[in-house]
Amino acid sequence: MILRIFKYGEKVLREKSSPVPVVTDELRTLADDMIETMHEAGGVGLAAQQVGRLERMCVIDIPEGCDKGEDAAFNAPVQMPLKLFNPEIIARNGSECEKEGCLSFPGIGGSVTRAKEVTCQYIDEENRPQVVTARGFLARAIQHELDHLDGVLYVDHLTALERLSFAGKLKKLAKSNGGVR
Ligand code: NI
Repeated sequence: MILRIFKYGEKVLREKSSPVPVVTDELRTLADDMIETMHEAGGVGLAAQQVGRLERMCVIDIPEGCDKGEDAAFNAPVQMPLKLFNPEIIARNGSECEKEGCLSFPGIGGSVTRAKEVTCQYIDEENRPQVVTARGFLARAIQHELDHLDGVLYVDHLTALERLSFAGKLKKLAKSNGGVR
């Protein structure tokens, strides 16, 4: 089922998620719906807040070719799509600045500095504890989605200059969706 994607300006995007006590059939269905919604919108990640929910969960599906060279080889063992319940980043290494966008910010994209490599622990849809270490684009997606779960948005990380250049667009987008910045 395709869900509505909440946009910048809607209050839920600034709310913090709560860990799920156990992954139920309902949450497995929600994760599948989020993947369907993300694919339909042409995104590579989607967090609970973006479909108006506050469970600590997100989905990621990086198409082949997004990560290049060594990063692609490093991330190759990670099975897509990822359905992450109660994810937490337990290690970060290095840093790099790359372009980023978000389905809650149609038409706006900016440069964000993030860790080059992250290790994330989570529980999978069968309630098994898992750990994934990722680099490059996948590492960036994990950090972006986990930020959502804490009510943090990628525009919070923009350089001062980019924030200034997007100020008008961001204000307009927020205003048309409820006004919460
Ligand atoms: Ni996003």
